[in-house]
Amino acid sequence: MPIVIKTPDEIERMRVAGKLAAQVLDFITPHIQPDITTGELDDLCHAYMRDVQGVIPAPLNYAPPGYRPFPRSICTSVNNVVCHGIPGERKLKSGDILNIDITVIKDGFHGDTSRTFCIGEPSILAKRLVETTFECMWHGIRAIKPGNHLGDIGHAIQSYAEASGFSVVREFCGHGIGRVFHEEPQILHYGRPGTGLPLEPGMIFTVEPMINAGRPGIRQLADGWTVVTKDRSLSAQWEHTVLVTETGFEVLTWSEGCRPMPFLPQP
Ligand code: MF3
Ligand code: CO
Ligand code: CO
Repeated sequence: MPIVIKTPDEIERMRVAGKLAAQVLDFITPHIQPDITTGELDDLCHAYMRDVQGVIPAPLNYAPPGYRPFPRSICTSVNNVVCHGIPGERKLKSGDILNIDITVIKDGFHGDTSRTFCIGEPSILAKRLVETTFECMWHGIRAIKPGNHLGDIGHAIQSYAEASGFSVVREFCGHGIGRVFHEEPQILHYGRPGTGLPLEPGMIFTVEPMINAGRPGIRQLADGWTVVTKDRSLSAQWEHTVLVTETGFEVLTWSEGCRPMPFLPQP
């Protein structure tokens, strides 16, 4: 499958889908408190998506090759869970970090975004991991402009993560997105400057670094989905869906509740 360059009409529909995905995160934020379960957060998001927004939660029954259908509508990844955590009976407690990953389908198009939340008062290390991962995502996004290469995005993320004493998960990456949830190209969160595919206006893909406090290795649990760090260290993730424009980038998964782009010194 080739890389899809989106038309102006498709881009407009991706803006709508992207905003809706981000608005689910805005909606759920006040509910993220000690004692709520991840299953309850899923129920709330599912009802909001279906009844208020009129969107389809893309994860529900999603079954890429080699996977069983994902059983819930959102992903909830706590502490040492890297990604694809299945909502369930787990109760949040003060000190946890939680990534919520939302993908909606609106009018045939996907919007995909995630944020990592702190419950109560996590450790200094946990907070630094969450902040650094947010900055990693932005280092990657800000490398997006026509003429730059995919390797520039990966390099920007990797060099910042590793200089901070953290590591980049290799097995999962960002992805092209549109009518299809996961399409080409793959957006690696590590790499060498000037390598890989050159960026062109009209490409849409996600940037979603998974950063570990310890070693980069991961393991998949027997449920077929949940990914955890091999060394049980904490892992954080942030994700935006981004359009390559004539002059740089446009974040499509933007909403009122988004934290603004941080000021980052040049690397
Ligand atoms: N939203 C995830 C991503 O960023 C994919 C989740 S697939 C699911 O690519 F089935 F686990 F929901
Ligand atoms: Co994604
Ligand atoms: Co996602």
